[in-house]
Amino acid sequence: MSRTLLISGASRGIGRAIAERALADGHRLSLGVRHPVDLEGSALATSSRVLVHPYEASDPASANAWVEASAARFSALDGVIHCAGIFSRAGLLFDAAETAEIDQVLQVNLMGPWWLTRAIWPHLVASGDGRVITLVSMSGRRVKGPLAAYPVSKFALLGLCQTMRNVGWPLGIRVTALCPGWVNTAMAAGVQSIPPGAMTQSEDLAVLVSTLLTLRKEAVPFELAVNCLLES
Ligand SMILES: NC(=O)c1ccc[n+]([C@@H]2O[C@H](COP(=O)([O-])OP(=O)(O)OC[C@H]3O[C@@H](n4cnc5c(N)ncnc54)[C@H](OP(=O)(O)O)[C@@H]3O)[C@@H](O)[C@H]2O)c1
Repeated sequence: MSRTLLISGASRGIGRAIAERALADGHRLSLGVRHPVDLEGSALATSSRVLVHPYEASDPASANAWVEASAARFSALDGVIHCAGIFSRAGLLFDAAETAEIDQVLQVNLMGPWWLTRAIWPHLVASGDGRVITLVSMSGRRVKGPLAAYPVSKFALLGLCQTMRNVGWPLGIRVTALCPGWVNTAMAAGVQSIPPGAMTQSEDLAVLVSTLLTLRKEAVPFELAVNCLLES
């Protein structure tokens, strides 16, 4: 079954891999990116099944404009995949200079998906089979070290996913929180403890998302933990 999906963060990394796989699977896509030029030269930029639209996750008006343009282009919208996100090393005893960074992490990682979900919600309800897939993280389930801003944003995002699930369930909307550990993208480029090849790959997550989109609503898992290291 083909769907019409909004995907944020599709310029690179996990969002890009999910978008490429979803295009190959025959879905119609509306890709929210800060710089549409990033997709130039790719199949995502040239396919007649794809709309590329500017999207700034920290701006609620941007979410509204993207959803409006997507609805105008496609007859119905039945899914959103939240991939835009940023990392931060701000910790418990952050200094004054990191205050703005913490605000930005919460805006992009938490409020971004919240505003975008709120904007697309009426379309998901109208679909009767709406889907929300959110890139949370293992950092939304447990905190292993001294980082604070990033895991706090992801714990809150997982809470938001639970609310989306609760509100959406009787409306036929199914929500999945995807919780990987390290994934081999630019976000993990500074990680020394595990080589890139031993991390989960973006394409692995694209396969999971591809499968999620084929499942009947009676079979959609709410939370998927994806580990590249043993966590007991
Ligand atoms: N990599 C990991 O180890 C890992 C693990 C668990 C969860 N995740 C989560 O997975 C998601 C994707 O991460 P990734 O690894 O693919 O990271 P990435 O390669 O750094 O890509 C991040 C994406 O988010 C977009 N983005 C960042 N800030 C934005 C903003 N203000 N407005 C709109 N888009 C914005 C980027 O767009 P630009 O190209 O314009 O910067 C890019 O498309 C994130 O939510 C991340 O927290 C990642």
